Amino acid sequence: MILVTGGAGFIGANFVLDWLQIHSEPIINLDKLTYAGNLHNLASVMNGAGHHFVQGDIGDSSLVKELLAKHRPRAIVNFAAESHVDRSIHGPEDFIQTNVVGTFHLLAATREYWESLTGTEKTAFRFLHVSTDEVYGSLNANDPPFTETTPYAPNSPYSASKAASDHLVRAWHHTYGLPVLTTNCSNNYGPWQFPEKLIPLMILNALKGEPLPIYGDGLNVRDWLYVGDHCSAIRTVLENGTPGEVYNIGGWNEKTNLEVVHTLCTILDQACPSSAPHANLIQHIRDRAGHDRRYAIDARKIERELGWRPQESFETGIRKTVDWYLNNQDWINNILSGDYRQWVSRHYGSAA
Ligand code: NAD
Ligand code: DAU
Repeated sequence: MILVTGGAGFIGANFVLDWLQIHSEPIINLDKLTYAGNLHNLASVMNGAGHHFVQGDIGDSSLVKELLAKHRPRAIVNFAAESHVDRSIHGPEDFIQTNVVGTFHLLAATREYWESLTGTEKTAFRFLHVSTDEVYGSLNANDPPFTETTPYAPNSPYSASKAASDHLVRAWHHTYGLPVLTTNCSNNYGPWQFPEKLIPLMILNALKGEPLPIYGDGLNVRDWLYVGDHCSAIRTVLENGTPGEVYNIGGWNEKTNLEVVHTLCTILDQACPSSAPHANLIQHIRDRAGHDRRYAIDARKIERELGWRPQESFETGIRKTVDWYLNNQDWINNILSGDYRQWVSRHYGSAA
């Protein structure tokens, strides 16, 4: 079996659901269930034999050691993290605690377990660390995209904490020989994404007839990757990646934020013509502090070495995503709890 951390969050839950559709190999899912963790994401597999959920912290060494000793996974895929840049600006401490200290404790427990293995159990073991393109910093309009050798230059408390975790993972390979794999990925979108992130926030606000808050001039560029493609890339790296190597994962879909939001508005105008044009809801608000201008991923290494390429175009992925939110009102109602409303009023309340 494999151990997945953070498997009740957006990407982790998509990974667990996809995995269990494809493999008969079971998953232990260790998740702390922060505001971003949601067991409703996993409703279809919660009672299945292939999925064993454990609520807990990656930084809880005794719990992790107990899980490793009991279940003897052949691999660990580490999604667990604090993931939202704006929250890291308001309160960086949780990011240091989970992304840096938590990853350290997880690595230490994993090393102890891996060193206790022998034979093919030991040689086949893998620790896959899921990271982000934000560790490489910000690009200007004409800069080439990030490669695996682009120097790290993180700019937000979030990206600095992820960069620190990547360095720890690298060091555990270099110093102790732990067979690690690191993936650095661009912006994901798709089903089950918590609506603090750009795409689901804009869909939900547009459906409620509320303002669509664009930071600054809206010309910041992100590369967008459909979450199902990210999950297939992680499976590919897990099975065929070379220990100690880093793989950049991207969608070859660079868009400005305004392009993304206008595309969403056009799709929603077709789906909900009575409230069109949704673009009238766009409002430019105060820019994010330290807002990175552009991210772009050169994903040629994973294609060349492992044969992976994204299957979804932005046009097909974004339509699937909007359809999913239109058809999952119960999930949305469950998300729009007091906690979420508090975040929205705290973050957007004074930003107009
Ligand atoms: P998310 O915020 O939706 O989910 C994170 C999950 O981790 C939640 O279920 C949460 O409960 C859990 N968690 C948090 N702290 C924990 C702890 N201490 N112990 C155990 N579980 C804990 O995040 P996501 O968007 O699904 O991102 C998953 C991973 O992918 C993160 O490492 C993130 O940095 C990385 N990533 C995300 C994106 C993106 O666009 N969302 C892009 C590149 C990389
Ligand atoms: O690049 C990968 C990263 O992508 C991941 O590592 C992070 O976990 C993930 O959150 C994401 O970070 P971003 O900051 O790029 O994503 P976010 O959805 O928060 O913002 C995308 C862009 O949209 C960014 O330029 C900020 C802008 N934005 C965002 C929000 C929430 C707005 O203009 N208005 C908003 O209300």
